[in-house]
Amino acid sequence: MSVYAVTGSASGMGLETAVRLRQAGHTVIGVDLDSADIVADLSTSAGRRTAADGVLAASDGRLNGAVLAAGVGPGPGPARLRSITQVNVFGVIDLLDAWRPALAATGSAKVVVFGSNSTTTTPLVPARAVRALLASDPDKAIRSVRFFGKNASALLYAASKIAVSRWVRRNAVSTEWAGAGVRMNVLAPGAIMTPLLEEQLSSPDRARYVRSFPVPTGGFGAAGQLADWAVFMLSDAAEFLCGSIVVVDGGTDAYFRADDWPSPVPLSGLVRYFRRFRPWSTPRSAGGSG
Ligand code: NAI
Repeated sequence: MSVYAVTGSASGMGLETAVRLRQAGHTVIGVDLDSADIVADLSTSAGRRTAADGVLAASDGRLNGAVLAAGVGPGPGPARLRSITQVNVFGVIDLLDAWRPALAATGSAKVVVFGSNSTTTTPLVPARAVRALLASDPDKAIRSVRFFGKNASALLYAASKIAVSRWVRRNAVSTEWAGAGVRMNVLAPGAIMTPLLEEQLSSPDRARYVRSFPVPTGGFGAAGQLADWAVFMLSDAAEFLCGSIVVVDGGTDAYFRADDWPSPVPLSGLVRYFRRFRPWSTPRSAGGSG
């Protein structure tokens, strides 16, 4: 049986994922603001340290996987802007940096990071905000969306999920992650009925925006459906899944972006290929190419 860390384990998709893993006989070390094995506030660096250390202690430094589901949705007030950056971005990156040796220690660990289809369906997300978050400058990221008034938090939310998705894709393929046997991927939900979405729907402005989104399958997704995907992405089936973004959104992304993807690799991607060390040239994965 395996040992998994799950952040956001007290509610919504994180809770449903933890329930499924426990039902399958695995050990889950849940992290959340309350009702969790490790109670920690991921919006502060001290809280992230508590979460990181608490999980390492509870797992004896060996993790078969991690699910990073804790997240904060768009909402009013400057404090919300701050927690979007802290929880959605650094609440993922800081924990994964701390847990990487424990994940590598088990030989074939899997990591699922919750992104969002807001990354590809929200217009006008400032590139500066994404760059600032990837450069660990949350204040600059917040400044770059202030201009958008009441839409600032929705844009910062999308920027936070773009940043964390890019961080995953950049790192997933590196020597430190893929080369160490860890498979890291993003699960990008559309509108899923959880307390986070309920909060959006309770604000008339946000509700109008959310309900106006085209969902070709109709309706909202259920937390359990997404948890099933998360569990699948932790299974052996994900051994060859690396740096992928799995969009589960009832078709919204395809509706808006049918012709944007797949697209040919840009020259910058080839330059990166020739400059970077390639994890698949390590002895562990040598000979596996198809
Ligand atoms: P939820 O609100 O049901 O669960 C989120 C959990 O994160 C809660 O248990 C909450 O206490 C925890 N959390 C929030 N701030 C925290 C903090 N400072 N420290 C520790 N824990 C904290 O939300 P849901 O919908 O299950 O969200 C899971 C993930 O999926 C999030 O990352 C969210 O951004 C993402 N997502 C959700 C969508 C939706 O429509 N529900 C759509 C796209 C992405």
